[in-house]
Amino acid sequence: MDPKAANGGRTDNDTTKRLILPTSITRRTFIRSTGLVAGAVAAGPLLSACGAIGGSSGGGGPLKIGLLLPYSDIYAVLGESITESMKMYFENNGNEAGGRTIEIIQEDTQLKPDIAMEKARKLVEQDEVDLVAGIVSSGVAVGLRDYFHENKKLLLIANAGANVLTRAKKSPYIFRTSFSNWQPNWPLGNWAYDNVAQKVFVSAPDYGAGHDMANAFLNSFEGKGGQLVADPQFTPFPQMGDPAPFITEIQQANPDMVYTFYSGGAAVTFVKAYGEFGLTGSIPLVAAGFTVEEDVLPAQGDAALGTVSGLHWALQLENATNATFTAAYKERTGKDANVFAMQGYDTARVIVDSINAVEGNTTDLDPLIDAIAGVKFDSPRGQFKFDENTHNVINPVYIRRVEEVDGALHNVVIDELGDYVDPGDDSKG
Ligand code: PHB
Repeated sequence: MDPKAANGGRTDNDTTKRLILPTSITRRTFIRSTGLVAGAVAAGPLLSACGAIGGSSGGGGPLKIGLLLPYSDIYAVLGESITESMKMYFENNGNEAGGRTIEIIQEDTQLKPDIAMEKARKLVEQDEVDLVAGIVSSGVAVGLRDYFHENKKLLLIANAGANVLTRAKKSPYIFRTSFSNWQPNWPLGNWAYDNVAQKVFVSAPDYGAGHDMANAFLNSFEGKGGQLVADPQFTPFPQMGDPAPFITEIQQANPDMVYTFYSGGAAVTFVKAYGEFGLTGSIPLVAAGFTVEEDVLPAQGDAALGTVSGLHWALQLENATNATFTAAYKERTGKDANVFAMQGYDTARVIVDSINAVEGNTTDLDPLIDAIAGVKFDSPRGQFKFDENTHNVINPVYIRRVEEVDGALHNVVIDELGDYVDPGDDSKG
């Protein structure tokens, strides 16, 4: 297909040119461009006793990393995958960075912003961690944003895609190594219109990420002339409950295609029901890639066959880093890697590379922020680099189809759409 069409009229080269900014951009430049100086200053005193970055250890002693992830409810496997791959990366690199031994302190956020807030405070104010990483759910991430921003604490988001954190609520103290919810879905809307169908039914969970993802898909799909056959269906989150009424509603709308985003336990519930009602293979399912990722495919079984999805990674991507990562993860856990594990692996690498660059000094915040923003490497997904305007990663987007490969279901890459940078505002969904 025409890559220019898939990339909102930009070729990959155009994208690269637009994205490569002077590497010398500083936190001051970032703050000026976000207009967030007042908030940062006003809320500063709360943790002043802890020093610039919270850890009293600062430049010596162990490097304390707080992990805030769900280890319960429908996204528990996502939290476990991120944890395993981060530990794997650290262990494989001598469990040290910048001359300091890495110490991980894990906390279960569940999927509850209030619990996550309590755990974040504990990590920062009692444990005095040097930085916090993790966060799976958009709702939790948005709930924590002001705490990290106003208290100038570093947060590396390893999953939650809430668009707003790359837009109106971006912060120099918050980096995202995973994706914005817009990134895999906007290109997919274009691709699905051109390659699958022009009339769609949309189903997603009723919380921030579900709305972000559906909006992004519809923005490009409708921009091409595609149509919704009914109002989007937003289902209860986190527990969907009985999926039968939702699948029945889809059946009755009789669309040419269904677009969906679900993840973890909800993805298993939805896709299995899609199969049980006979929709698999009769109404094409097009999805944000999380819906049929490697963590849920074994439980979904044949109900997932043929699902086409957009995502920034695939198990079978052929590059040297992916080969090393997927083999090591399988050996460690006995399971195939998944996109969440990949994001954890990259998050760990961002931490190690940036802490090495500042020789373990986490007390001076500005050089550390600049070091993180400048991290670049060959990731299992392709080239890893941050958009310096937003601190959100720039992602390649792959179109994958669920097929049987050597007796098991996997996502096979069928198209590559090039690099996508979140627009940084709501102009494209
Ligand atoms: C999110 O809440 O941002 C989220 C959760 C699970 C996913 C993707 C995004 O698989």
